[in-house]
Amino acid sequence: MTGGNGAIRGAFFDFVDDPWKHVGNEQVASRFFADGLLVVKDGIIEDFGPYEEVSKRNAGVDITHIKNRLIMPGFIDGHIHFPQIRVLGAYGHQLLDWLQSWIFPEETKYRDRDYATEAAQHFFRALLAGGTTTCQAFTTSFPVTTEVFFDEAAKRNMRVIAGLTGIDRFAPDDYIISADDFYKSSKALIEKYHRKGRNLYAITPRFAVGCTEAMMDRCSQLKKEHSDLWINTHISENPTEVRQVKEYYPDCCDYTEVHEKHGLLGPKFTAGHGVWLTNDEFRRFSKAGAAVSFCPLSNLFLGSGLFRIGRATDPEHRVRLSLGSDMGGGNALSPIRVLEEAYKVGMCNNTMLDGSVNPREQDVAEAERNKLSSYRAFYLATLGGAHSLYLDDLLGNFDKGKEADFVAIDWSAGQDAMAWHQSLTADASPNTVEEAAQLLFGVMACGDDRNIDETWIAGTRLYKKGEPDVMPAM
Ligand code: GUN
Ligand code: ZN
Repeated sequence: MTGGNGAIRGAFFDFVDDPWKHVGNEQVASRFFADGLLVVKDGIIEDFGPYEEVSKRNAGVDITHIKNRLIMPGFIDGHIHFPQIRVLGAYGHQLLDWLQSWIFPEETKYRDRDYATEAAQHFFRALLAGGTTTCQAFTTSFPVTTEVFFDEAAKRNMRVIAGLTGIDRFAPDDYIISADDFYKSSKALIEKYHRKGRNLYAITPRFAVGCTEAMMDRCSQLKKEHSDLWINTHISENPTEVRQVKEYYPDCCDYTEVHEKHGLLGPKFTAGHGVWLTNDEFRRFSKAGAAVSFCPLSNLFLGSGLFRIGRATDPEHRVRLSLGSDMGGGNALSPIRVLEEAYKVGMCNNTMLDGSVNPREQDVAEAERNKLSSYRAFYLATLGGAHSLYLDDLLGNFDKGKEADFVAIDWSAGQDAMAWHQSLTADASPNTVEEAAQLLFGVMACGDDRNIDETWIAGTRLYKKGEPDVMPAM
């Protein structure tokens, strides 16, 4: 396949439904072809299915055969910080001190176009090396950072969501932006970038601690004037943060009400973290069609806490969920490592729910939902993430008409004994969905970026492990 035209042959694994809807029978939410064919025209999927059938319908198509790999839709990172790519893994602080000590000083450098452009090379390369093909990203309060982000994403033809970060308190004077300047600059950026190529714009109030009433009002005004825009923020990440929000917004009963009051909570709204959301707040998220981005690497690295996956996936009040690296609060960009940590969070939650600590807190159904099988995990990283971001009409699986972003996973790469470990499941390419899912569990439990062999954007290969960067011909 070249230039977004042609076909890929190989073993394909994607999702057609939410595995949490099929407890005990999760494989029905997935789709697996041990020998499949994906036909792409101008970067869009034209046909997909078993090789035997699809090849007959597409005689003469130029086929690239990817052997001994699992081909999956590209991963979606629902919450990441572009200007933190150099400062990830910083020592010693929890959220609010960490922002002041490490983050605002680094992000201030992104007022310089050259610095931001150099950073973008590292950022996008690292995304692709981890298998991330779409992200919803924070930039900074300097419009130039948002411009560089969108320009560099467009060079790679990647589907991204981002926006100017609104913060008018709780940061150094040379970092904050007034609500009026935020509004004016946002309008210009929306005009220049929203729905240009694959770029999508998100109104981005950083978090309620850093946003005055005036800033929230401007966000509300932007959403009223551009109902098509996304909204990206943080919520209930850290207990001190939650207490501060109550002081800043005494008329709101909880953190979620700050967003409700400003007309922001609804479809296309995503808040990262949500570690300390109450059951009632989860219910209101669910009803509003709003999403939480679960950021386990960061929640553990900054000591924020354990996100209650089993509560957020209650079928009565299911909350839309994506996975976020939250890099640099998260100490890696790799979605595979995010899955690993997400799995551990579910297991730790279950120590509280299995009755062994307090028999009165036992909840067997919630405990079952906390268990991150590879079906649930890779669903969140692909179709589930797309659904939570209201992008599932465009991407997230291999349905015809969707954008052809995908990864080729080498299940045997990584730690020294990985191939030996995986040979417990299969000696060769998997033949059944159960085998494929088991290999994927091996990848999420023991793997990392080294398992990503190739990353393709709109039918063009932009990353091949061990080879130099490629930029698509535009
Ligand atoms: N809350 C406000 N800003 C940030 C940030 O940059 N990272 C994280 N993890 N939380 C935040
Ligand atoms: Zn964040």
